[in-house]
Amino acid sequence: MDINGETLVETTISDVGTYENQEVTLKGWLYNKRSSGRIMFLILRDGTGIIQCVASKKDIGEDLFSRLGKLNQESSLVVRGIVRGDSRAPGGYEIGVTGCTIVSEAFDDYPISLKEHGVEFLLDHRHLWMRTPRQRSILLIRSEIIKACRDFLDGEGFVNVDAPIMTPSACEGTTTLFPVEYFGEQAYLSQSGQLYNEAAIMSLGKVYCFGPTFRAEKSKTRRHLTEFWMIEPEAAFMEFEEMLELEERMICFILERVLTGCGHLLKEIGRDTERLTGITPPFPRLTYTEAVGLLKQRGIDIAWGDDFGAPYETAIASEFDKPVFVTHFPTKIKAFYMQPDPDNPDCVLGADLLAPEGYGEIIGGGQRIHDYDLLLERLNQHNLPAKDYEWYLDLRRYGSVPHSGFGMGIERAVAWICGLEHVRETIPFPRMINRLRP
Ligand code: 4AD
Ligand code: MG
Repeated sequence: MDINGETLVETTISDVGTYENQEVTLKGWLYNKRSSGRIMFLILRDGTGIIQCVASKKDIGEDLFSRLGKLNQESSLVVRGIVRGDSRAPGGYEIGVTGCTIVSEAFDDYPISLKEHGVEFLLDHRHLWMRTPRQRSILLIRSEIIKACRDFLDGEGFVNVDAPIMTPSACEGTTTLFPVEYFGEQAYLSQSGQLYNEAAIMSLGKVYCFGPTFRAEKSKTRRHLTEFWMIEPEAAFMEFEEMLELEERMICFILERVLTGCGHLLKEIGRDTERLTGITPPFPRLTYTEAVGLLKQRGIDIAWGDDFGAPYETAIASEFDKPVFVTHFPTKIKAFYMQPDPDNPDCVLGADLLAPEGYGEIIGGGQRIHDYDLLLERLNQHNLPAKDYEWYLDLRRYGSVPHSGFGMGIERAVAWICGLEHVRETIPFPRMINRLRP
């Protein structure tokens, strides 16, 4: 950075410690400021952290001092100053300001002040809300969770393949498809990359896709987005039991990563990390039939064959400190591709992983039908036109093998790990039934 013809070390707030007692420049935004006559405290944020910059009239002159004094929150600045160790400062350092360039003066009506706002107001101003420390922490944790998923699967020998977003047919049932007009043909936004993963494993063995998925769900709950991100591993020759173990390992890997790498961020957002530390394999397992029995014991009115709503999932999960698998759902309430249990074909080799503390299903997965005739029969039962699934049937015609996979919704995982009330804070720009903007 060049100020007044001098070249100074340019660094970030997270790295200032490397330059103690040296003069550096920092580029960022004014988060807050206060003044006591001849001294002004500028709280600067730059994405990597927050630091207090102390400016005095004597060091920077009347003119700059008075211009800084008039700055509104969120004005952008390049600050020059000496890095000073200060045990009372949050990051352990502060900056003794020697100079400052005002890059852009913020207007005086910045909508997100440091007071409380209603959540609809905040969502309307998501583009600005995301600058606040809490939202920044959540986005950092989200990024770490995504990285952990990738590192885990890469380490287990999975290959990242990406599934298309525009698709001609349904994966998870036809009722929640978003239509797209595709050059005179009807297409849909993808609900899941699974079917394409199933093709890719016959080439690569173990694969995963990671991308946005779309559900035109009319659900207005704290767990539902219409656009969410899903990590979907799939493996040839992997059977049901092995898949459950893979899920356990992945969840524990993610938790370990976040607890070690983002412990300070979890603390900042007020997460009780005790609830996450004891989570190790194996996770408890209940069959759907056992889960229904448990719910009945707890006085809940449910019949065998009913799908689980959120309150049921919460009731089941609250019995355990760890995530819990519910397995062997009734065939008739699950997707067409689910492999029936050979010992009881009324149930499938499918599992939902329910997170503790009321967060509900974070993973859905199972073993897939690998028999050609059975798959064809199921497509017919679900009124899905076989001609749209010819390519998918080909996978059963040419060297079919038992295989399994699952999908984890990133936002559900972030909500649980961060302990958030609602998934709307887990994604940079949430899309929900009543929200498409900003
Ligand atoms: O259980 P789902 O529908 O499973 C599938 O889509 C499979 N094809 C995945 C696979 O096996 N490859 O969705 C998987 C996960 C859920 O457990 C949940 O975490 C998340 O995706 N999810 C949602 N997240 C936010 N908003 C929604 N509307 C969601 N619907 C599903
Ligand atoms: Mg599901």
